[in-house]
Amino acid sequence: MSEAPVAVFDSGVGGLSVLAEIQQLLPNESLLYLGDCGYIPYGEKTPEFIRQRCGLMARFFREQGAKALVLACNTATVAGVAELRGDFPDWPIVGMEPAVKPAAAATRSGVVGVLATTGTLQSAKFAALLDRFAGDVKVVTQPCPGLVERIENGDLHSAALCQLLQGYVEPLLAAGCDTIILGCTHYPFLKPVLSRMLPGHISLVDTGAAVARQLQRLLDEGGLRAHGPARETRFWTSGNVPHFAKVLPILWQESGSVQSFDL
Ligand code: DGL
Repeated sequence: MSEAPVAVFDSGVGGLSVLAEIQQLLPNESLLYLGDCGYIPYGEKTPEFIRQRCGLMARFFREQGAKALVLACNTATVAGVAELRGDFPDWPIVGMEPAVKPAAAATRSGVVGVLATTGTLQSAKFAALLDRFAGDVKVVTQPCPGLVERIENGDLHSAALCQLLQGYVEPLLAAGCDTIILGCTHYPFLKPVLSRMLPGHISLVDTGAAVARQLQRLLDEGGLRAHGPARETRFWTSGNVPHFAKVLPILWQESGSVQSFDL
């Protein structure tokens, strides 16, 4: 069982930012990745719809023999992780949420910004996260429609992307944020452009590395760590396979086989 793969999914290519953290921390693990690109963006879908997609993908990965599941998507986590844990109580499942706790601990100005999808920001789970961890820190939220679609096309620094992004970070800077949470797994791919755009004192925080550490803990607890060597990472998409295969090398350092997931 320990040599079985770890399964990772997102609404699209954003979860590749989390996959990279997992691969770096756990290089012996074989990885399966599914981008649900046919149904992106999740940020504008209903929780019920996202829960259904989560259930389909989880069952697919069970059939593939995955030993653990990672929801490399904040929006899917708020909508679907509780139900998945109920449906598969014996399966290590890792979800993710915006890094409010570390950001609240790090800010000096006392103002933290959150860039995330509309679905994440409107969820009760996010409200509970703020109640629990924001304390006296002021949290300014900013939904970012349109960003995910650009990243899905492999656009990480065009003039149009920069203009869109500038419009999203300006209100956060005007509010006095010194720490910005990247609360969607697509956004870490914008770190290079953000660090050129933002004043030097602004820190960016995301949760990819914490997700990899949580996966490591759960695998260790279950005696499930692989001893390797890892097999090739395999990819699926519910969207257009040639498009996914074209964008993959822009966001992922290796090539890999891409197959269609047509449920
Ligand atoms: N990557 C996803 C997240 O972390 C969502 C992107 C989407 O809207 O589909 O929230």
